[in-house]
Amino acid sequence: METGFTIEQLRAAAADAVRAPSLHNTQPWRFRLRDGGIELSVDPRRRLPATDPSGWGTRLACGAALFNLRLSLAVAGTPATVRLRPYPGEPDVVARLVPDLPRRPTPAEQSLYTAIPRRFTNRAPFWPDPVPADARWQLGEAARAEQCWLELVIGTSAVNAFAEIARSSHRVLERDPAYVAERTAWIRSEPAPDGVPVAAGGPQSEPQDLLPQRGYGGRNRAPGRDFEPEPLVAVLGSAGNTATDQIIAGQALQRVLLTAADSGLAVSVISQPIEVPGAREALRLSLGRFGTPQMVMRIGYGQPGRPTPRRPVDEVLDLSVVRA
Ligand SMILES: Cc1cc2nc3c(=O)[nH]c(=O)nc-3n(C[C@H](O)[C@H](O)[C@H](O)COP(=O)(O)O)c2cc1C
Repeated sequence: METGFTIEQLRAAAADAVRAPSLHNTQPWRFRLRDGGIELSVDPRRRLPATDPSGWGTRLACGAALFNLRLSLAVAGTPATVRLRPYPGEPDVVARLVPDLPRRPTPAEQSLYTAIPRRFTNRAPFWPDPVPADARWQLGEAARAEQCWLELVIGTSAVNAFAEIARSSHRVLERDPAYVAERTAWIRSEPAPDGVPVAAGGPQSEPQDLLPQRGYGGRNRAPGRDFEPEPLVAVLGSAGNTATDQIIAGQALQRVLLTAADSGLAVSVISQPIEVPGAREALRLSLGRFGTPQMVMRIGYGQPGRPTPRRPVDEVLDLSVVRA
C-alpha cells in the first residue's frame, strides 16, 4: 500500500505554496520528497543578510508557503500531518508533512484555497469604506485558528502612535546603506520571475503620508490621490519568538491574508517596525499584549491588481532526494 506522497502531489502542492508572500519577493523556499513526506526548507541562497539578519522574514515567508501547502493538500483530499522543524540537526528544514487520513475538504478550506491566486500585496491608497465588524472578526479568527493573535489598532491616537513607531523604524533602516542596496537590488523594472515589479511597488511616498512605504521605485501619484486618513492597521503576534513561533506566525499571516482576499479586502504589509528591535519592543508595549508582534498589515478596500511573478515550480523542487 502506498503510504507516502508522490512527486505529482509534491509538484501540485508546491505550485500553490510558491504563491505565498516573501520579503522583496525573494521566494526563499525549497520543496522535496523524503521518505514519502513532503519537506519544506529555507533556501539559504535567498536570505537577505542586511534586511533580515536573524532569518525572521525567511521563516515567516516559509510559514506562509507552508499554509498554502497544507491547504492545497487538504483541498486535493490528501491532508497532511505537519511537524515543524523536525530535525534538530537540520534547522533549515521548516516542516515535514506526511499523509493524514484522506477526507473531503471543508467549505472553509475550499474558499481559502480559491483565494490563493487572487491574493497580492496592494500598496496603493485604499478607498475610504470602513472594514465591517464581521470581516474584522473573521480576520481575528483566522489568526487564532493558527495559534496567533491579531490586534486591530483602533482610534486616531492609537493609529498616530503606531505611525510614529513605523516612520522612525523606516528612517533607521533607510540610514543603512547595505539595507538600501539590498532593497534596490530586488526592484524589477523588466519582467522577472522574482523581486518586486515597479508596477506593484505602489506610489512614491509623499511628506503628508501617515505610514511609511518601502521604496520599490513606484510612480508619482496623481494630485489628491492620498492614502486613507485613518487606515485599518492590524498587528499579528505570536506567543513567543522562537524560530518555530515565527513559522507558526507565517502560517497565521497567510491564513489572515487569504481570509482578507476571500472577503474582497486589500492588504499591504508594513514590516519595518518588526525589523528594528527597538521599534518592535515599542510596538509590543503600546499594544499591552502578551507575546511578540510578528507583522503589521494595512487592510481596506482597494483597486483590483495583479499577482506578482513567481519562479517556475521546478526551480524550487529538489528531486535529488528519493524515497527510502
Ligand atoms: C516577512 C515579510 C515582510 C514584508 N514586508 C513588506 C514591507 O515592509 N513593505 C511592503 O510593501 N511589502 C512587504 N512584504 C510583501 C512582499 O514584498 C510581497 O509579498 C512580495 O513582493 C510578493 O508580492 P505579493 O505579496 O503581491 O505576492 C513583506 C512580505 C513578507 C513575507
